[in-house]
Amino acid sequence: VFAHLVRAPEDPILGVTLAYNKDPSPVKLNLGVGAYRTEVTMLFSVFCYVDYRRLCERYSLCCLVHQEGKPLVLNVVRLWNGNSSVTPLSFCIICRARNKEYLPITGVADFNKLSAQLIFGADSPAIQESRVTTVQCLSGTGSLRVGGEFLAKHYHQRNIYLPQPTWGNHPKVFTLAGLTVQTYRYYAPATRGLDFQGLMEDLGAVPSGSVIMLHACAHNPTGVDPTPEQWEEIRKLIRSKALLPFFDSAYQAMFCLHFFALSIVDHEHTRIYLHYGFASGSLDKDAQPVRSFVADGGELLVAQSYAKNMGLYGERVGALSIVCKSADVASKVESQLKLVIRPMYSNPPIHGATIVAAVLKDSDLFNEWTIELKEMADRIISMRQQLFDALHARGTPGDWSHIIKQIGMFTFTGLNSEQVSFMTREYHIYMTSDGRISMAGLSSKTVPHLADAIHAAVTK
Ligand code: LMR
Repeated sequence: VFAHLVRAPEDPILGVTLAYNKDPSPVKLNLGVGAYRTEVTMLFSVFCYVDYRRLCERYSLCCLVHQEGKPLVLNVVRLWNGNSSVTPLSFCIICRARNKEYLPITGVADFNKLSAQLIFGADSPAIQESRVTTVQCLSGTGSLRVGGEFLAKHYHQRNIYLPQPTWGNHPKVFTLAGLTVQTYRYYAPATRGLDFQGLMEDLGAVPSGSVIMLHACAHNPTGVDPTPEQWEEIRKLIRSKALLPFFDSAYQAMFCLHFFALSIVDHEHTRIYLHYGFASGSLDKDAQPVRSFVADGGELLVAQSYAKNMGLYGERVGALSIVCKSADVASKVESQLKLVIRPMYSNPPIHGATIVAAVLKDSDLFNEWTIELKEMADRIISMRQQLFDALHARGTPGDWSHIIKQIGMFTFTGLNSEQVSFMTREYHIYMTSDGRISMAGLSSKTVPHLADAIHAAVTK
């Protein structure tokens, strides 16, 4: 009965990994999917984190020697999982004791509360006034899909406007959710920066009430974000036209270029932290565009993912929050979200959300997490610089400064699909056909290989 089917193409992002896996070349390099990979390193974040009471012991037992190019399980996650050889910690015991009953349709209550605080800020007026409803979903994609289906069912407008370009899965998610996908100008290939004028013109022309999809920070695939001033103009325009913002927040805290300050905190007279000022600074700063839309009292949706910033890709942990005008509306929205979720997957999985809740709740784990975030962000920034320097050293034609100007996990190189095919064919370098490379998949050792390939592709 299915013989009439034609073979569907592989996913443009996840299919890159399939092709990479089939390649026997020892020099192959996967820069397709946005997933963090390690440099050869000992992850001794303990060097900047001294605890005379118990954390030294914890760290000395769990520090890892990283092999190059391997997926990273964050220390906070490893510790919590209890799968390293660390002394049993209270949270490991909690983990083992936890039962495997069904969760409520809305997921782990603590996870939802803490996720809302992470994105909106603990002092958010919307949280304090109980105007936010948050439901645990299957990572960013699942949160977008639940939000999309909720809008298709209950919102008066079916049009959703996506930036051009956007993450390849966005149009599919929203189309299948029942919305009509439109686009607005976002990226200017000539400058490899934001087409702010085009963006404002297009948003100015959309029908009142339309849904506008916005990347909260570290735009995927371009790595180009509006400045705070531009965000403010976008916000005013959106509100003046009663448009409904729907944020995708997949990279909170990971990849902004923040300097950090060292300060010494005497905590309970037993601990001295050499504390990254970066910590909550980045988490807060990356959430700023979302928070400014909450501060103006208006409604919005936001999909959060913990794939990148907690390395929980395969655990599928995310949250959808909807900020409403009143607590009463928020509770009605939640009741309707449950009707979307129940027939879709009934209720979400326990494991990943419990890890996230534990990390967000425990101040020690939270601090450790921010240190690991900074390590990941720094490594990616260093890859940007190294790649830029390598192209400069080779005299590769073109202005490659966008490599260091763009932010986040990706560089939108400007290479065309023909050049990408050439690099895959001749150099075994795998990336999406739009020229996006995942900087997180690169290491100091592989930068020269990539630079050689880019040089050959643009000079051939
Ligand atoms: C990406 O853009 O590479 C990631 O968001 C992974 C995915 O699911 O596409």
